[in-house]
Amino acid sequence: MLEGDTLVHTLDIYHAHAIKKKFKRDRVVCSAHLPKENWDLVKFRTGPKLMSGELMLDMMQEASLLGCRVELDFAGRERDRNELLAKVKDLRRVRSFRAEWEASVPGGPVLKFVSYPGCFCHRRKDDGGLALAEVVSRELQERGANGVKLLDMGCGCGLVGLLVNSVVPCELTLIDSHSRAIEAAEENIARFGAKAKTVLSDDGTGETGFDVFAGNPPYYSDYRIAEVFLDTARRCLKPGGVCYTVVKNAENLRPVQEKYFDSVEVIHRRGYAVLKSHA
Ligand SMILES: C[S@@+](CC[C@H](N)C(=O)[O-])C[C@H]1O[C@@H](n2cnc3c(N)ncnc32)[C@H](O)[C@@H]1O
Repeated sequence: MLEGDTLVHTLDIYHAHAIKKKFKRDRVVCSAHLPKENWDLVKFRTGPKLMSGELMLDMMQEASLLGCRVELDFAGRERDRNELLAKVKDLRRVRSFRAEWEASVPGGPVLKFVSYPGCFCHRRKDDGGLALAEVVSRELQERGANGVKLLDMGCGCGLVGLLVNSVVPCELTLIDSHSRAIEAAEENIARFGAKAKTVLSDDGTGETGFDVFAGNPPYYSDYRIAEVFLDTARRCLKPGGVCYTVVKNAENLRPVQEKYFDSVEVIHRRGYAVLKSHA
């Protein structure tokens, strides 16, 4: 697959780093859309276990619109493969997969977020993220905080940081490893006129001096990614800064968070547990 003059495209910077390391290649790009060059062939590896149906369709449509030969390397049933091909057959009907949906925290305005396939969450708000935003914004309001320097790691479309910012003005940094998340977060920052910057990264940031860290990590890799989040929190928070993470079951994450912080307080909200620690 990696023979010849090949450029490898990924949506997630974690995959780009892994491919570079394994195949010792420089020609790897991570971006929200396929690079528009004069390609002879686009080989698209996909399947229901690799990405959502909407993302498959969106990427397949993008590949087809490049106007070169497209080869589908489909991991899944023949029937699903044919269905995907049939859906992108007529390129006169280019579909948009952009979604808009609303979210708010108590006392704040209703914000209309934008999301794209591949970005977490697409088409809806995540209850874990919402629980985290509600707890962080409530606590910052109670403290009368203003101009807080807040790091939202695993920001997705920016739900947590931008909701907190809607009630407590913040200096925001939004980090995610997925290029589609960063694309959506940037659009949402502009929509809401927030003071914020984005970072595409799978290993946090070297920046320090944050007052608050908020993270809703994915838990599909046991706690490996949660540890990357917590390690970043410990390094980037200033003394007295506060780290908030969210999880379904506090008892699973608590011992992991205790490796990075002296104590952990659990705050229950919306069927989730927000774990709070002081730097
Ligand atoms: C559960 S989602 C949370 C999204 C958003 N904060 C919310 O609450 O709706 C986790 C996010 O973490 C991102 N992610 C996964 N691994 C990461 C890493 N190593 N560094 C930064 N972000 C990562 C995913 O791309 C995803 O957007």
